[in-house]
Amino acid sequence: MKRLKYGFLGAALALGPLMGPTAIADDHAKKTKDLTSITGDTFQCIRDMTAVRGFYVDNLLGDLDATLEVANSETGGVYPAGSLIQLVPGEAMIKREKGFDEGTKDWEFFELIATKDGTKINKRGTTDIVNRFDGNCLECHVEAEPQWDLVCEQDRGCDPIPLTPTMTRAIQKTDPRCAPTALTDEEKEGLQMLMEMMGG
Ligand code: HEC
Repeated sequence: MKRLKYGFLGAALALGPLMGPTAIADDHAKKTKDLTSITGDTFQCIRDMTAVRGFYVDNLLGDLDATLEVANSETGGVYPAGSLIQLVPGEAMIKREKGFDEGTKDWEFFELIATKDGTKINKRGTTDIVNRFDGNCLECHVEAEPQWDLVCEQDRGCDPIPLTPTMTRAIQKTDPRCAPTALTDEEKEGLQMLMEMMGG
């Protein structure tokens, strides 16, 4: 019962990405050499990516070290092409090739639908993508101080999202594409609060 409920929540909030068997997804991500061929299959179980503080990163062109260097830098920097960042399964940003879109510093925004069967791209684009709560991705993310390259975290100048770090962790843990994993009592409470917030 609980698993069902949580799975539904993840899908409903689309707060995460999706994929088929994890091994294949992973492989695919590493082998993509061409950022013009991003599909639902590009996205996989969020927890198979590399954790950086509260979010997860990968690099679709195989240069994870370069992505991690910026993500872990105390002074910021410009993420290399191929960088994939996710906080929740239903949203992602990917650093495209140089010159892709000046207005978004070459980031492409994705709204994803993650289910146990994989990931579907619901919306993708640059300046006009809004999330499920009608918030424009760029309008919030552009408020990040310039050295952070549109990455918000909690203290970099963006308007906050209504999710506590505990709720975010619970959403990451209930990504329907990942193998099930136990939630702490605190995380279960976080999900419950989130469902109440969502009117459910
Ligand atoms: C209301 C403002 C707002 C909107 C709208 C918004 N975000 Fe965010 N986003 C944030 C904040 C704030 C964080 C950091 C939250 C945290 O770390 O707890 C964040 C985190 C993220 C992250 C993790 C990296 C980071 O910046 O910390 C990604 C990826 C992301 N959002 C993508 C998107 C996409 C894609 C959309 C649109 C479909 C979107 N966001 C819409 C404010 C927003």
